[in-house]
Amino acid sequence: MKGVILAGGLGSRLLPMTKVTNKHLLPVYDKPMIFYPIQCLVNAGLTDIMLVTGGNFAGDFLQLLGNGKDFGLKELHYTYQEGGNAGIADALRLAEDFAEGEKVVVVLGDNIIENNIQRAVAEYSQQGEGAKVMLKEVPDPQRFGVPEIEGDRIINIEEKPQAPKSNYAVIGIYMYDSMVFDFIKAQKPSDRGELEITDVNNSYIKNGGLKYEVLQGWWTDAGTIESLYRATQLVAKTGANNM
Ligand code: G1P
Repeated sequence: MKGVILAGGLGSRLLPMTKVTNKHLLPVYDKPMIFYPIQCLVNAGLTDIMLVTGGNFAGDFLQLLGNGKDFGLKELHYTYQEGGNAGIADALRLAEDFAEGEKVVVVLGDNIIENNIQRAVAEYSQQGEGAKVMLKEVPDPQRFGVPEIEGDRIINIEEKPQAPKSNYAVIGIYMYDSMVFDFIKAQKPSDRGELEITDVNNSYIKNGGLKYEVLQGWWTDAGTIESLYRATQLVAKTGANNM
């Protein structure tokens, strides 16, 4: 299995900071944001990792991370997303050759968790075909992809719904088999002009099988002023990734 970190985008919700740097290079407590998703994948046992980035400050990732020596990696793979706002699924598309038909664990570069997802990842590697998403109960589901759950199945996911069908967010840690790239190729941009990761997950519900698991420990994104502040507070209090 391989790991993919999506760290592109324009970071427009974090202006003016993102006028002069990539969102994922901003500090979360004592480290750049991008350190957390890398550590998350390394803790889960993944050593073959690709970072997808874009925009004007892509070179800064190389300077900061190099070949990933700080994380015990032998090398780190990079690719560049042209155009900053084509969406999360469009960024993932760029990892197709890197994946070489293997399963991938995808982490959004602004997602931070308290614990280790090693067990969830190991179970997924044994799962056979299909995908798996991680859920977390949140007070503000309107901000996220929200699952509609029936029994032990997700029957649909809505992106940023006004009337959420549950109190869960589909967090930015996704596990996919090689079908994911065919689903992305068949996808159309959403109303906001992006290839949505929620549409990818809905394709799995219809055609591939989608399992879910509720994450233990805290989770936060860090892509808005409020959530970046919250992320810093959570990391300061307990540390992240069992670090
Ligand atoms: C993205 C996804 C959303 C998911 C969230 C997790 O939202 O589109 O489904 O719940 O990440 O952080 P965005 O951060 O692009 O608003």
